[in-house]
Amino acid sequence: MQALTNPYTPNAGAEPQAVVGRDDQLSSFDLLLARIESGRTEQSMIITGLRGVGKTVLLGQFRSKALAREWVVLELEVSKNDDSEFRRDLATRLRTALFELSPKARWTDRFKHAAAVLKSFTVSVDAAGGWSAGLDVEAAEGFADHANLALDLTDVFLAIGEAAAERRRGVVLLLDEVQFLSKPQLEAVIEALHKMVQRKLPITMVGAGLPQIAELAGDAKSYAERLFKFPAIGNLSAEDAKAALSRPAADEGVTFTGEALDEAVAITGGYPYFLQELGYAVWTVAQNPTITRDDLTLTVPGYEAKLDESFFRVRLDRATELQRAYLRAMAQLGPDPQKASDVADLMGRTSQNLGPTRAELINMGLLYTPEHGYAAFTVPHFDRFLLRAIPELDVPALRRRGPRAG
Ligand SMILES: Nc1ncnc2c1ncn2[C@@H]1O[C@H](COP(=O)(O)OP(=O)(O)O)[C@@H](O)[C@H]1O
Ligand SMILES: [Mg+2]
Repeated sequence: MQALTNPYTPNAGAEPQAVVGRDDQLSSFDLLLARIESGRTEQSMIITGLRGVGKTVLLGQFRSKALAREWVVLELEVSKNDDSEFRRDLATRLRTALFELSPKARWTDRFKHAAAVLKSFTVSVDAAGGWSAGLDVEAAEGFADHANLALDLTDVFLAIGEAAAERRRGVVLLLDEVQFLSKPQLEAVIEALHKMVQRKLPITMVGAGLPQIAELAGDAKSYAERLFKFPAIGNLSAEDAKAALSRPAADEGVTFTGEALDEAVAITGGYPYFLQELGYAVWTVAQNPTITRDDLTLTVPGYEAKLDESFFRVRLDRATELQRAYLRAMAQLGPDPQKASDVADLMGRTSQNLGPTRAELINMGLLYTPEHGYAAFTVPHFDRFLLRAIPELDVPALRRRGPRAG
């Protein structure tokens, strides 16, 4: 069928025509805003899930909801930044928040104070003052100038929170890729938010990140668990997965047969990104407005080739030979989280010996640790890809390459 009418969205962060299976998270978000609006407190949340499950899309839905309630929305995609870059990124958003809360001509003393605190916050990273020129204030001495991110951010949140409360507006910070925050950065955010809850000020934060984040925040600060829920999102139920395909098609007058939908669920495992890729691909293959199981069968090779190239291969290309061998051994053991010792056994080495390789793979974002001693792939179906890409598990060759197991 025509490319022009193809309704699927196989791109990172692209809002699908039908956002399905996220009602729980959407209503939690509504409740969070409603409770803060009424001067109450509520646990905020950090959405966790593997790549391609729809975390960024969900944050986008939160954004629309918050805007509809006239909240000020600040979006930040975290990258592996040092503290001064992080400070600058936050400051840019917070400055926008001040202007959105009130035009400068109407700034009250509270707003002027908040602007002065924000200026202090950036003095260390913007000595020339170019960045804060638009604020037209002197830095507030004694505020946000402690050379400590957590203390400084808390001062800024307090000042802006007071200003927002004066305008009876809320501010929500949507933080994507939270797993890239360093420990001190995460601690700073948690501490500043904790203060907002204590003072019942209307600033909150909702984050999204890879699954290891729950663990990170856990040891970052013991009260993180009280401050945040960590709802995990993942593959869609069969029913939702079918709706993700059939609803956008129906809008274009196209239907899937029941068998075709069953097959699509089997192929994708209900993973949102895979559903979009499969939908997109089958649309180009199908010649009639009724998509059949045969259409899907015809589509699979192209669909897999596309995933291999665009999604999987880039991840493997960055890996060294030993890292690849480690991944391949894991794939041999299956799609589930694997014990470090089992992988090592299969490779004829000790876990200690392979510890650095495993740590590198975690650091590269290819593996994560769902629980102590285990590692799992950060993208679904990566095991199947590895079996396709590296057909032979060449254990003897591996043994020759590195120091032997003790
Ligand atoms: N609820 C949903 N239903 C159907 N498709 C979705 C849903 N959420 C996301 N998608 C699709 O899945 C893909 C990945 O979404 P994205 O938000 O980028 O995932 P993540 O941020 O978790 O890596 C995109 O192609 C998007 O259109
Ligand atoms: Mg994302």
